[in-house]
Amino acid sequence: MEKLIINGGRELAGEIKVHGAKNSVLPILASTLLIRGVSILHNVPRLTDVDASIKILEYLGAKVKREGDTLIVDAKEIVENRIPEEMMREMRSSIIFLGSLLSRTGEAYLCYPGGCDIGVRPIDLHISSLRRLGAMIYESGNCLCCRRNSLHGAKIILTFPSVGATENIIITSVLAKGKTTIINAAREPEISDLATFLNSCGAKIFGAGEGTVEIEGVESLHPSSHSIIPDRIVTATYMSAAALNAKELLIKDIRAQHLMPIMPVFMEMGCKLYLDANNLKIVSPKRLKRVRTIKTMPYPGFPTDCQSIVMAALTKARGTTIINESIFESRFKHISELNRFGADISVNDSVAIINGVKNLYGANVFCTDLRGGASLVIAALAAQGRSTIGNIHHISRGYEKIEENFAQIGADIKRIDDEREVTKNE
Ligand code: UD1
Repeated sequence: MEKLIINGGRELAGEIKVHGAKNSVLPILASTLLIRGVSILHNVPRLTDVDASIKILEYLGAKVKREGDTLIVDAKEIVENRIPEEMMREMRSSIIFLGSLLSRTGEAYLCYPGGCDIGVRPIDLHISSLRRLGAMIYESGNCLCCRRNSLHGAKIILTFPSVGATENIIITSVLAKGKTTIINAAREPEISDLATFLNSCGAKIFGAGEGTVEIEGVESLHPSSHSIIPDRIVTATYMSAAALNAKELLIKDIRAQHLMPIMPVFMEMGCKLYLDANNLKIVSPKRLKRVRTIKTMPYPGFPTDCQSIVMAALTKARGTTIINESIFESRFKHISELNRFGADISVNDSVAIINGVKNLYGANVFCTDLRGGASLVIAALAAQGRSTIGNIHHISRGYEKIEENFAQIGADIKRIDDEREVTKNE
C-alpha cells in the first residue's frame, strides 16, 4: 500500500501551479458521448477519477488518447449502453454518465454504489429530473434501467441546487426537443465550464452559473476543443498549506473570480492576498487568527470541499473557530485523524469546534476521504517531526502528484510503497 512520509516544519516558498479541475473534467468527459466525433480537452489532470471515466468511455466504445495534458476522445462509435458495477464503484460520480448515455443510445443501465465516505449521496433529484425530460427509469435491485423514446424540454424546479443533478439535466436536455428551464440550478463554476464546452459544440445553454438555466434543444452537436478551468479546491489546498507553512507563496494558474467564497476566510485568518486574473500571491502572518463561524453552502457560499482543508489551517490559529457543515452529513471523519497531530477539535452533530493549538506533532494517520486526506497532508507539513499518511488512494482521486508539487516548494515529502519496501528488505 502506498503512503506519504512527511517530515514537517519545513518552510514552503517559491511558486506552485494549479492543475485542471476534477469536478469540471468528469462531467465534460461524460458529455463527450453526445458528440459523434472527436472532442479535444486540454488541461486534463492525471487523476484516478479521470482514469476511471476514461475506462468507462472506452468500455462504451469511445477511443481515448492522452497527449500530455490533452485528452482526445473519439466517440464516433458507441457500442454499449451498460456500465458494469465495478466501474461505477471506482468513481462515485459516475452517475453523471446516466444522462449522456441515455441521450446517445436511447437506453442506459447502471448499477450505483449507494452510500460513500462523506454521506449517503442520494440520486433522487437526478432521477426525478430525467423523468421530467421523458426518460423512463426503474430500479431493479441496485441497478438503474433507463429508456427513452424521445426526450423533450421541461421546466424543472430543483428542491436543492445539486451540482450533479444540474449537470445531468443540462447534458440530457441539450439534444432534447424544445426548451428546458432549470430553476434553483447549482451555480458552481464547473457548471459554467460544462456549458462553455457544450456551447462550443453547438449547444444552446443560457444562464449557466446563475440560478436559472435555459437550454434550447438542438438537433446535433459538432466536435470542438476546450480547456478545463483550474481547480479551485486544489488552489484552496495550496492556500491553506501556505497559510500555515510559508511566509509567501505564489500560486499560478488560478481563476481569481472562483476564489471569492474562500478569500474572506483567509483574509480573516490574517493572510494577505495579492491577485491578478491568473496568479495569487499569499503572504501569511506569524500566527493565524481564528475566524467567525464558517458554514458550508452551495456556491457562491463557502464550499463543502474546502471545509477540511481550511480546518487544517485553523488547528494552529489563535482562538476558537466554529465550522458548520450543512451539505454532507458525514464529512467530519478526518477530525479524529487531525486530532492525532495534537489538534483540539470536537464535534457536535454538524458543527466542529476548533480550538487553535500552538504546535502540531508528527503522527501516523489514514485518509478517510479525498479532501479529508488533503487536510492531513496540510497538517503533517506543519507538524513537528515525522508523519505517515496511509490510504492515499483517496488523495490520488483529486490531486496530481501531490508529493512532487509540495516537494518542489520545499516540503520534505515522499510517496513510498510499503509492500515494495518490505520486498527490498527481505
Ligand atoms: C459535487 C462535487 C463534490 C462537492 C459537491 C457539493 C463533483 C464530481 N463532485 O458532488 O466534490 O462536494 O458537488 O459542492 O462535482 N442530493 C440529494 N439528492 C440528489 C443529489 C444530491 O439529496 O439527487 C444532496 C446530497 O446528498 C448532498 C447535497 O444534495 O447533501 C449536495 O449534493 P450535490 O450538489 O449533488 O453534490 P455532487 O454533485 O454529488
